[in-house]
Amino acid sequence: MVELFSRSLLALDIGSSSIKLMELAGGHQKKVRAMAYIPLPAGIVANGVIKDPAAAQEQLKDFFKANRIFPFGRRVCVTLSGNAVIIKRVALAPDKDKDLAEQAYYAAEQHFQHSMNDLEFDFYNTGSLNERGETNVVLVGAKREAIDGLMEIVHGNRMKIGVVETDVFALANMFEHNYGTSETIMALINVGASCTQVTLVWRGEYLYTREVAIGGNEYTRRLAEAMSVDAAAAEGTKIAVSNFTQDATEVVARQLSETNDQLVSEIQTTVAYYLQGADNAVPGIPFTNAFLAGGACRTLGFEAALAAALQVPVAILNPFQNVQVNHRKFPPEELSLDAQKYGVAVGLGLRSVGDKS
Ligand SMILES: Nc1ncnc2c1ncn2[C@@H]1O[C@H](COP(=O)(O)OP(=O)(O)OP(=O)(O)O)[C@@H](O)[C@H]1O
Ligand SMILES: [Mg+2]
Repeated sequence: MVELFSRSLLALDIGSSSIKLMELAGGHQKKVRAMAYIPLPAGIVANGVIKDPAAAQEQLKDFFKANRIFPFGRRVCVTLSGNAVIIKRVALAPDKDKDLAEQAYYAAEQHFQHSMNDLEFDFYNTGSLNERGETNVVLVGAKREAIDGLMEIVHGNRMKIGVVETDVFALANMFEHNYGTSETIMALINVGASCTQVTLVWRGEYLYTREVAIGGNEYTRRLAEAMSVDAAAAEGTKIAVSNFTQDATEVVARQLSETNDQLVSEIQTTVAYYLQGADNAVPGIPFTNAFLAGGACRTLGFEAALAAALQVPVAILNPFQNVQVNHRKFPPEELSLDAQKYGVAVGLGLRSVGDKS
């Protein structure tokens, strides 16, 4: 049978240090059809904002050319993060005069503290009610300029936008696909290059997120300063000691440990803020686990420092736990060190055209 127009979405996670490309195929049992990591020079993307879309577009074009990928006409799923997106879970009381969409829009006007003219707005109904019988709804506002930047990259490569997603929901989808849902609150922590997103989920529902402006770049910056070396050398040392291929000197160990403490303290404050009842918190649900994703979650000592502070088990997520990978194409020894980088990309790849974004 000839299958026309049925190709899956190409997922692009455009982060501040790299673009992660993912194409998943298959029905319920997903498998990786294509996967790639495309490094980006510093300064093109920062904190979710694409500063130089033309440069990102060129990087992607070069990659397609070098790998003989023909992207023209392909539909892609892209993601928003950082300052580009506002997410808020609210509870809406039944209102016989307004439908849910109208109520959600008014709630967003009230909560976003941003002109709605500058935002694309959407919402999703979690399907659950709170203890007062109100509907739990998640409001999402995306800054137009951020979407424009993504469009430029995508259209410049003759591709089309299929779905616009957020890093936070992509990670939550990836988690549910691989690990299922839980009756307790779980923290999903994505430690990227420029920032760290802390997201709380429960029963497969989004609860709360906050972004902390510390990521892998901060470790590298501090190491470079303390060792009086350039960023590339500091980055090399950081990765080598974190992968245990090199011993950490006292200076290196101290810098990494101090940055770990700083990041861990921000994460701890975020989780505690929600659990203490802020932001429409669901009362009385225990917080039991934290899961890590993002390239920088492997930084030496981070996982242990976080577990000690949060007092719950902490584990690095495997985005391919329930996704088949051809190990001849993607050797397990490489993937075991790098899989966590693809957390968001796998979540994006799970989306299909026509899904509500
Ligand atoms: N093995 C490792 N140990 C420690 N840090 C690592 C390792 N591998 C990658 N990193 C760091 O992870 C970061 C890149 O992670 P990731 O690809 O998730 O970020 P990004 O998506 O580009 O950034 P952001 O999401 O913040 O825009 C870099 O700072 C890099 O130094
Ligand atoms: Mg990222």
